[in-house]
Amino acid sequence: MNATMSPEEKKHYPVMLNQILSIITPQHGGTFIDCTFGGGGYSQAILEFPGTKVLAMDRDRLAQEHANILIKKFPKRFSFFREKFSNLNQVAQPNLNPKAVIFDLGLSSLQLADKKRGFSFDSKNFLNMEMGINEHSTYDVINTLDKEFLANIIKVLGDERDGKIIANKIAKYRSRRPIKTSQELTSVIKDAKKNFKNYKKNPATKTFQAIRIFVNQELTELVLGLIGATKLLSEGGILIVVSFHSLEDKIVKNLFNLYSNLRKNPSRYLPTNDKKSNLFKIVSKKPLIPNIKEVKQNVRSRSAKLRYAVRNNNSFFYPNEFENKFASYFKLERGRL
Ligand SMILES: C[S@@+](CC[C@H](N)C(=O)[O-])C[C@H]1O[C@@H](n2cnc3c(N)ncnc32)[C@H](O)[C@@H]1O
Repeated sequence: MNATMSPEEKKHYPVMLNQILSIITPQHGGTFIDCTFGGGGYSQAILEFPGTKVLAMDRDRLAQEHANILIKKFPKRFSFFREKFSNLNQVAQPNLNPKAVIFDLGLSSLQLADKKRGFSFDSKNFLNMEMGINEHSTYDVINTLDKEFLANIIKVLGDERDGKIIANKIAKYRSRRPIKTSQELTSVIKDAKKNFKNYKKNPATKTFQAIRIFVNQELTELVLGLIGATKLLSEGGILIVVSFHSLEDKIVKNLFNLYSNLRKNPSRYLPTNDKKSNLFKIVSKKPLIPNIKEVKQNVRSRSAKLRYAVRNNNSFFYPNEFENKFASYFKLERGRL
């Protein structure tokens, strides 16, 4: 997450758009699902090809405003739902037969640039960090969540080894007065990480990531969104995910490793894998990454990883093994205040 953004960074660049277009080939028409509409970069680029239709969704109110522009421009070929992608199967008809379902995770540059949203470290506005349609408010999480639980969130969801020290500082501070802004939270974290001058990134980066993930239940959303997309795709349909940090990438990688031609046999003494347990064909084992030119133009793209797989003709079955693997994230993100 970027705290201070240059005008160049505030510009909206759809990440890895060219690679995505070459994978999904919209020039041949078809229906596409954009699960993370944001500023509409992908949807718009797809709709520029005449034979296409796009069903888009986003949980964010800001995205709705941008979607309205495309609704006017492409009234017959574009529809938008302000929904979380865990509800994909409620939004999309089971017989839609999309050519591709696309996820571009994390925050849009529009959300990052909007200081009122409190995603940036220096925001003086009310602590927010909510993407939309949230169960928890960030203010409540920071000011009322049990100290040990807060430490665990910061440690696990932020991969922050100083989770306990930071949670202690937050608890101490809020016992005097509530933490009201992102800027105040940043300063409490900096205080906890006193040697922060040694860091290349802002010392609050990992904690902000953790709080944002928790407040938006991002990992639960991702697991359920991927399952929903797998169910919706039929033979030849492509599932594409652009992720920005290791927790997200781990989830995507696991889905593809568990239910594809890549799956290893658990033991050489067991019969070879039943082919029916595959749902995908993997084209490239390694993730694709943006080229140097794109990273120079849009620094936000530097950590992007694109993974994709093609749905085969095996009937959908609920991927319990995948869901169970991430049950600890579900439990953590469902933690009550
Ligand atoms: C990186 S941006 C997408 C940018 C988009 N590809 C573009 O070209 O403009 C990610 C978007 O996904 C949305 N989002 C994140 N998690 C979501 C979820 N669980 N359900 C629906 N939308 C979500 C965010 O609100 C944000 O607008």
